[in-house]
Amino acid sequence: MAIKTCVFDAYGTLFDVAAAARQAATEPGFEALQNKWPDLAGHWRLKQLQYTWLRAVADAHADFWDVTQDGLDWALEATGLQGDTNLRQRLLDLYWGLRAYPEVPEMLTDLKEGGLQTAILSNGSPPMLDGAVKSAGIGHVLDDVLSVESVGVFKPHARVYDLVQERFGCERDEVLFVSSNGWDAAGASGYGFLTAWVNRAAEPMDRLPWTPAHVLSDLTSIPKLAGL
Ligand code: LAC
Repeated sequence: MAIKTCVFDAYGTLFDVAAAARQAATEPGFEALQNKWPDLAGHWRLKQLQYTWLRAVADAHADFWDVTQDGLDWALEATGLQGDTNLRQRLLDLYWGLRAYPEVPEMLTDLKEGGLQTAILSNGSPPMLDGAVKSAGIGHVLDDVLSVESVGVFKPHARVYDLVQERFGCERDEVLFVSSNGWDAAGASGYGFLTAWVNRAAEPMDRLPWTPAHVLSDLTSIPKLAGL
């Protein structure tokens, strides 16, 4: 089937989640981060995601902003930076306004000009996603921003992927789903979307029952994959 709708994961896919720690490490007052920011960013992301999976299987949903703060608190303690309340607040402020990867605006513009529908489908809460979309200036090239908050469970639960068909009325195989998270691209493949895994860090493939249809190093070829 021809692709009608291109759906993007947000954090790590359109928005650079390591940018918050990388940026704070360059700022006066946060010199302690200079050597530690890669570890901090890695722990923060991994704990944030682990908490989403654990909360989903335990039926103990919490807003992604709470989960993001829990992951940060674990990461700050693991890197010996707990107790620095200014640093904690600065990292959260930066996370709220993450930069988009450089190819994102043109890629989304090409999709829209090619007549495709575009959307974000994210674990993020609506206010967080609003902050990121506004700071990246991409709201005008997105038809919608879908959040798991409307179903109260995190990815890769099928109820989350259902939101795409409910919003756009398309068939599963008319959707190109794009994620930098291997497990999310795999889950969406199992659901029935055509999928692309954006593997910027050249990580190994996740060992799961499903595999993404395409593996990319960035987002530039998405319009071509979508048939433009
Ligand atoms: C999201 C996370 C998984 O945006 O990156 O849904």
